[in-house]
Amino acid sequence: MKNIFKILLSFMLAAPAIVSAQNVITNIYGRDVQSLGGKWDAIIDPYDQGRRNEIYMNRTPQGKTDFYEYSFTGGQRLNVPSDWNSQTPELKYYEGTVWYARRFDVQENAGERLFLYFGAVSYRCRVYLNGEEIGRHEGGFTPFQFDVTGKVKPADNFLAIEVNNTRTPDAIPAMNFDWWNYGGITRDVFLVYMPQVFIEDYFVRLDKDSATAITATVKLSNPVEGEKVRVEIPELKIDRTVTTDVHGVAEVSFEAKKLVRWSPENPCLYRVMVSSTTDRVEETIGFRNIRVEDEEIILNDKPIFAKSISFHEEIPQRMGRAFSEADAVMLLSEAKALGCNMIRLAHYPQNEYTVRLAERMGFMLWEEIPVWQGIDFGNVETRAKAGNMISEMVMRDRNRCALTFWGVANETQPSPARNEFLRTLISQVRALDDTRLIVAAFDNVFFTREAGRFTMDDPFHKELDVVAVNKYMGWYHPWPVTPDKAVWDVARGKPLIVSEFGGEALYGVTGSPDTVSSWSEEYQITLYRDNLRMFENIPNLRGTSPWVLFDFRSPYRFHPVNQNGWNRKGLVSDQGQRKKAWYIMKDYYDNK
Ligand code: GCU
Repeated sequence: MKNIFKILLSFMLAAPAIVSAQNVITNIYGRDVQSLGGKWDAIIDPYDQGRRNEIYMNRTPQGKTDFYEYSFTGGQRLNVPSDWNSQTPELKYYEGTVWYARRFDVQENAGERLFLYFGAVSYRCRVYLNGEEIGRHEGGFTPFQFDVTGKVKPADNFLAIEVNNTRTPDAIPAMNFDWWNYGGITRDVFLVYMPQVFIEDYFVRLDKDSATAITATVKLSNPVEGEKVRVEIPELKIDRTVTTDVHGVAEVSFEAKKLVRWSPENPCLYRVMVSSTTDRVEETIGFRNIRVEDEEIILNDKPIFAKSISFHEEIPQRMGRAFSEADAVMLLSEAKALGCNMIRLAHYPQNEYTVRLAERMGFMLWEEIPVWQGIDFGNVETRAKAGNMISEMVMRDRNRCALTFWGVANETQPSPARNEFLRTLISQVRALDDTRLIVAAFDNVFFTREAGRFTMDDPFHKELDVVAVNKYMGWYHPWPVTPDKAVWDVARGKPLIVSEFGGEALYGVTGSPDTVSSWSEEYQITLYRDNLRMFENIPNLRGTSPWVLFDFRSPYRFHPVNQNGWNRKGLVSDQGQRKKAWYIMKDYYDNK
């Protein structure tokens, strides 16, 4: 594990100058932070003129002749964290640049080092502090930070963020995706107070094939050799001290005989403290084993069936991004009510409130980066961006035992460039974390008349631990045979998850149960019944994840009555009402 940091460093150094964020501090919510959330001043900059006018300098007229055609005072104000689209009608469809600005003072007893941390900014941004650009980041769903030690004044610091969510072909996701392109500073922003040498990262996990052997790898912020690092798990009577190597990294393994492993039925977590002479951090961590054995997914030595559901990071009632603990409670309690033991966080890493609460509630998690359909796979910059996104995702969440699946792609078409792109991602994930399963969702399963069954012609699936398939029988695809005759011969020898199936219904619409265009709840029931019947003919089926828990916003769902900018495949409407098919799925999971 020690050489992981060398690999990460080389990757970061290798990355084109897109991302100048440093290694993200692990467990930011366990650190000494000052929130910069609240109302920020804002300037909407559709023609990208702000940088040319250096508005981040926030100049004010001095003499009689000078004047400035901007000011961050008395103008638009936006909430942070939040997307901008849901805050004011004129920004509902806005894609472009918005400047955010605010002032902040630094706490008296400021630590020796100071960082500016962002949970996520959609989609790309440049950060200016007291008139100086301190860094930039690309990727709308992962954290990043900048070291601002020595760059702040005790009071009245001026922070300006140039945020842009324009879709581009080389981005991730690219030009077209089936969710709302929310822009803004969508997650928490913190000033982080740290000692000179601090515990930058730690990874505490159960060894892949052991029910009792735990390994902890701790990395200091500086390559300090001979530093004492202590790892404590009081409930397991674990208290070990080790010394760092030349890289400031220490690793210790120990037996935990009395360990109770985490599972959806028993989401048991332990207090873990990691300390050094100058720093100390703690959090609750769970321990579990996850692996595959032929066509079985094995959790803690027992085969499991993933009773999953997907949701976007959106609160439909608010038509905005989810970003808080309360939002996480709303989304996850609906999944719990449906009888799920897993969530597919579609199609991008979601905020830590959701991930940590899901772990406490006993949900396994599938987390992915938005390599969604048409990505510019041949573009080296795009590949570097994906590499950085996936490392930010894994580094943020690899201490989350609920995280069982890392997703590297959704509905990408086979090509040498695609394969190479995904191989790079997979090797990078495995280098950062070899304790979880790698999955990707395919949409190229088709019924072949000759074989009289459903097959898939995408050999890349062999390079994954678990194969997932998105298949919309009865919606995008008519039934070639009756569901009871719909036999699958797909990715045999691997566990298979049907990661998307379903169809649209507008809540409250009744209609004929066998007519797609009825948009009725009755037809959605038929569709669910038929697909669940077909699933009995998938011998290696080890999980299902209906698309989708809630109706969600999508800019190309144009039907004015039945959609009106919403993807209506939810089992729950945008107002939180359960559609009739919800009860079909509930019954299926209750009996699984
Ligand atoms: C795709 C895709 C989803 C999309 C869904 C749909 O499979 O992965 O992101 O929303 O289909 O068409 O509803």
